[in-house]
Amino acid sequence: MSENTPSIQPPNASPSVLIESVDHEGQGVGRLADGRVVFIEGALTGEVVEYSGKRSKDRFEKGTVTRILKASPFRVTPECEWFGVCGGCSLQHLDEAAQVATKQRVLEDALRHLGNVTPDHWLAPLHGPTWGYRRRARLSVRFVPKKGGILVGFHERKSRYVAYMTSCKILPPPISDLLPALSELVLNLSLKEQLPQIEVAVSDAVSVLVLRIMQPLTAEDEDQIRAFVDRHTTARHPLQIWLQPKGPDSAYPFHPLNAPKLTYRLDEFAVEMPFGPTEFTQVNFGINQSLMRRAMHMLDAQPGERIGDMFCGLGNFSLPIAHSGAQVFGVEGSAALVRRAEESAAHNNLSGNTQFRAADLFKITPEAFAALGSFDKLLIDPPRDGAIELVKALPDAGEPGRPERIVYISCKPATLARDASVLVHIKGYRLVTAGIANMFPHTAHVESIALFERL
Ligand SMILES: C[S@@+](CC[C@H](N)C(=O)[O-])C[C@H]1O[C@@H](n2cnc3c(N)ncnc32)[C@H](O)[C@@H]1O
Repeated sequence: MSENTPSIQPPNASPSVLIESVDHEGQGVGRLADGRVVFIEGALTGEVVEYSGKRSKDRFEKGTVTRILKASPFRVTPECEWFGVCGGCSLQHLDEAAQVATKQRVLEDALRHLGNVTPDHWLAPLHGPTWGYRRRARLSVRFVPKKGGILVGFHERKSRYVAYMTSCKILPPPISDLLPALSELVLNLSLKEQLPQIEVAVSDAVSVLVLRIMQPLTAEDEDQIRAFVDRHTTARHPLQIWLQPKGPDSAYPFHPLNAPKLTYRLDEFAVEMPFGPTEFTQVNFGINQSLMRRAMHMLDAQPGERIGDMFCGLGNFSLPIAHSGAQVFGVEGSAALVRRAEESAAHNNLSGNTQFRAADLFKITPEAFAALGSFDKLLIDPPRDGAIELVKALPDAGEPGRPERIVYISCKPATLARDASVLVHIKGYRLVTAGIANMFPHTAHVESIALFERL
């Protein structure tokens, strides 16, 4: 058992709480004797625990487990020695199958209680490898002499401090193995206090590390970075360093200049997606493929149909849809991603049936939506805030111009539930099916997919 795992001890006389469920942040939820709810970090469904936390008279309390009086049969020893301190994962103490079941329950509760909707049937959860899956990550960097130099890693739980960690099991092993060497590299640079972040992007052909630099490198810094890359690059894992002096768009390749390009493939749809290391891509390529397969099956795109891909990013879904022969109209807030989507369409010979537009979908009105032209079907894949304005902009139940099918991919059950409520109770759709995809194993993040059909 790791140092961070609370001790399992026999009951004593101090107040204890029965945990009734685990919430969307991975906290155990129980009820105090006075009826108030308590959220307890580190507690699992069915457990009886003691906790420490600030006592409060508010509607709820928050705390952290100190003793487990009755342990869940699904409690396991976390694999990572930094679990409990590092904020990257919050569910490693729960058996993997139980993590999936917990996420499914979070989705069910959100749809039922927040959206007042229930699907006709539930989908089996999508899951895949649970370690080394994280192909994109933003690591923080801090010079902390008291802790031995440079910290490179995720933030500590609910804190602005960077966690001390020398490995990470959810990053691909070649990147995890680099953490100590990265910390040593930064320590030896003149700008060790002006390098706050390293962004990681991994593809099959190359791993890119983007150093966010707040001042120019000296010639000596440049030599050290080149030597670092040359020392750690291998034929199986080519490494490339990029520098980012300002915003994400300012990133440029530094060394080596002839590295392979970042791309991922969606073989089933004969599509290759080039991407930049600071651009949004799904972090878990395996689950992205499974989710894609499911989304495409639900959408059932047909040649000649006109399909809207809302929040299309770099065209992750647009190009497979276009591959089916349908006409795709992708809308995305970032102009840089729209350019990338257009380039990718050309790269895959799909420019003829794709069109992309930059627009702020958080501000879309019914008039602006109508001006996009009519859609047979929609795919909606918003950020955590959801797509309430877009959903409200659809014609109401009984009015013409409603897409016959909507596939909604969500990274936050609460906003999916809110938007589903509008689709079902105002816009005249039926929630046919829904389910989760374990896109972020060992974290509490819940990715889900839902299919709505026009009544
Ligand atoms: C969850 S990602 C999905 C991207 C894409 N569908 C994919 O699978 O890679 C959400 C996308 O919404 C975009 N976005 C965020 N806010 C937006 C807004 N207000 N209007 C339009 N797009 C927005 C982001 O840039 C991002 O590309």
